[in-house]
Amino acid sequence: MVEGVCKNPNSSYIARIYTQTIKKRIDIGAIRTKKTNLRNMLATIRRKYTSPKKLKIEEIAKPVPSENEVLVKVQATTVNRTDFTNLTAKPFIMRFFLGLIKPKKIILGTDFAGEVIAVDSNCKSYKIGDKVFGFNDSGAESQAEYLTATEEELFPIPEDIEYKTAAASLEGAHYAYSFIHKVNIKSGQRVLINGATGGIGSALLQFVNQYDVQITATRNTKNKALIKSLGVDKIYDFTKEDFTKDKKNYDFIFDAVGKSTFRKCKPLLKESSIYISSELGPKGQNAYLPLLTKWSGKKVIFPIPFDKSKTIPYISNLLGSEAFEPVIDREYPLEDISEAYSYVISGQKTANVIINI
Ligand SMILES: NC(=O)c1ccc[n+]([C@@H]2O[C@H](COP(=O)([O-])OP(=O)(O)OC[C@H]3O[C@@H](n4cnc5c(N)ncnc54)[C@H](OP(=O)(O)O)[C@@H]3O)[C@@H](O)[C@H]2O)c1
Repeated sequence: MVEGVCKNPNSSYIARIYTQTIKKRIDIGAIRTKKTNLRNMLATIRRKYTSPKKLKIEEIAKPVPSENEVLVKVQATTVNRTDFTNLTAKPFIMRFFLGLIKPKKIILGTDFAGEVIAVDSNCKSYKIGDKVFGFNDSGAESQAEYLTATEEELFPIPEDIEYKTAAASLEGAHYAYSFIHKVNIKSGQRVLINGATGGIGSALLQFVNQYDVQITATRNTKNKALIKSLGVDKIYDFTKEDFTKDKKNYDFIFDAVGKSTFRKCKPLLKESSIYISSELGPKGQNAYLPLLTKWSGKKVIFPIPFDKSKTIPYISNLLGSEAFEPVIDREYPLEDISEAYSYVISGQKTANVIINI
């Protein structure tokens, strides 16, 4: 039974019928309007792979939680690189996950923070009024006023943390976790972070700062003050300087933007050291280099992500103890989401772009 939605014992049957009705409404296309009624919601919709300009805010039927699901009123979401991939299906290989001809999910959005407003009676971990956050990089359908999720997909927002802060602490921080938990960082070591003002990089920088280490970071000219405020020992402006000309000095090189290569960074690495990049590299080499360097002093590791059940509790702890504060660049209302996508695609975003709903 879904508390807050329907007290009828046949609620899952009703939910099914209702869901079928929703599907039908979605298939025939909904009317665009700014006003929602109790059964409807506004959502960011695309029915085929497209560009930000073709994105639409439409009024469609509100989702109904089925068995084991929770209905969340979304308060904040983000537009990140994964959303861009989900919008455009570029690179082409993504179509095998997102839908070959057209997207399986028509509502966009990966990160979310919001309030529980209905709970199936089988769900024991959450109640109406709880503040929750979560993400799904294959699509949480979170750029909408409401979403449904299973209990396993939700995490409690730490006390006193704003919705927008919670939403900005998800995808980038989740991937940043996999960089530092694939290695054993020790006090006094030297770490270089390339792309330290990105969604991944800005979280990674703060996570690395939990250790007593020397940090070198790259940033562009506009982010000088930001990077300084995040606690860095040495800074390279990547628009003017080449960090790969630095000395052989580093125990770890973390490329959080994938713009370097192991070959270029190798001279900077100490005899026993590790290189990690968020990208596969220009020739896909970061997929096989971990094997080729396994028995060498200078190793390559690919940061295959850990499960959310490991990463989000870690992030929550740091958020709760104020050891991590996600960087927020711009905020937009839902109706301006197409502008937010255009900004993210322009490559000018710093860290996180928020959509307040
Ligand atoms: N491995 C995975 O599973 C996975 C998952 C998600 C994303 N990724 C990849 O990880 C990368 C970063 O993602 P993100 O979401 O953090 O991206 P993002 O927020 O767009 O950040 C990119 C960062 O790179 C910086 N940058 C741009 N050009 C640079 C250059 N030539 N040298 C050094 N830094 C440069 C930007 O600096 P400014 O802000 O100062 O301009 C920004 O800090 C992307 O390439 C993405 O495809 C990998």
